[in-house]
Amino acid sequence: MTAAGARAARDEAAAGSAAPPETPALEVHDLTKTYRLGEQTITAVGGVTFTVAPGEFVALVGPSGSGKTSLLAMLAGLLRPTEGTVRIAGQPVADLNDRALTRFRRRMIGFTFQSNNLLPYLTVLENVLLMLSLNGRTTPAARTWALELLEQLGLGDRLDNLPSQLSGGQQQRVSIARALIHRPAVVLADEPTASLDTERAHQVVETFASLIHEERRAGIMVTHDLRMVRYVDRVVQMRDGMLERIVDDPTDVAKLAEGAP
Ligand SMILES: Nc1ncnc2c1ncn2[C@@H]1O[C@H](COP(=O)(O)OP(=O)(O)OP(=O)(O)O)[C@@H](O)[C@H]1O
Ligand SMILES: [Mg+2]
Repeated sequence: MTAAGARAARDEAAAGSAAPPETPALEVHDLTKTYRLGEQTITAVGGVTFTVAPGEFVALVGPSGSGKTSLLAMLAGLLRPTEGTVRIAGQPVADLNDRALTRFRRRMIGFTFQSNNLLPYLTVLENVLLMLSLNGRTTPAARTWALELLEQLGLGDRLDNLPSQLSGGQQQRVSIARALIHRPAVVLADEPTASLDTERAHQVVETFASLIHEERRAGIMVTHDLRMVRYVDRVVQMRDGMLERIVDDPTDVAKLAEGAP
């Protein structure tokens, strides 16, 4: 939760308001991941704690190897932490067995990988609709939303193409549509703009931001491109597996974005 959010919740409690405090979309406590490579132990993530409220968009930045992808993979329930806990909408992820976790992830989490992982024999539209059919939700309204989303991401005229017929950036945008289509509580994106030109990058991050803000999802985006932090509410800087700095004052976030080359 942001400082302002925390203050508002406290004020509300003090005023005796009936509204219960909102459950954070994402709570991470003392999260750690170590890898053993022969004799060596590598601490990819070393004791990270933070909270993201519904409707909050966070950028995760930091040098290569600082643990961003490892952290995101643990948040997505794709990688088991060595220590610490992840809760999504109040649910401790570690309490779910494999089967329950798969279903939970499919409904609650949208994820775009650093590499895009599209199914090569399905069209653009089919790759996106796949998320919905896994959840048993391929209604006409959902199909309309898929078309709208693909249009917003500049793929309206490529619906029937196979991934092999698309550029890297276009493929990445399909995987972004796939991460958003089922309106997950938590959206996690690892370098979503890496293979996009500037104009497309802005368009994609704006789409992320408006969905997160308007529909009160929680979003975390790993990015090397500081220009993209103008769309987020908070910037978390990682170094050597730890949170080095958190910038959550809007003026400071704007300064970071303006100072970018
Ligand atoms: N499966 C693995 N086995 C051993 N070490 C790993 C493994 N995956 C990641 N690491 C190590 O953990 C550290 C963090 O890696 P991670 O991929 O999380 O970094 P990153 O911040 O995403 O980097 P980049 O910006 O290059 O994508 C690195 O030192 C990496 O070599
Ligand atoms: Mg990475």
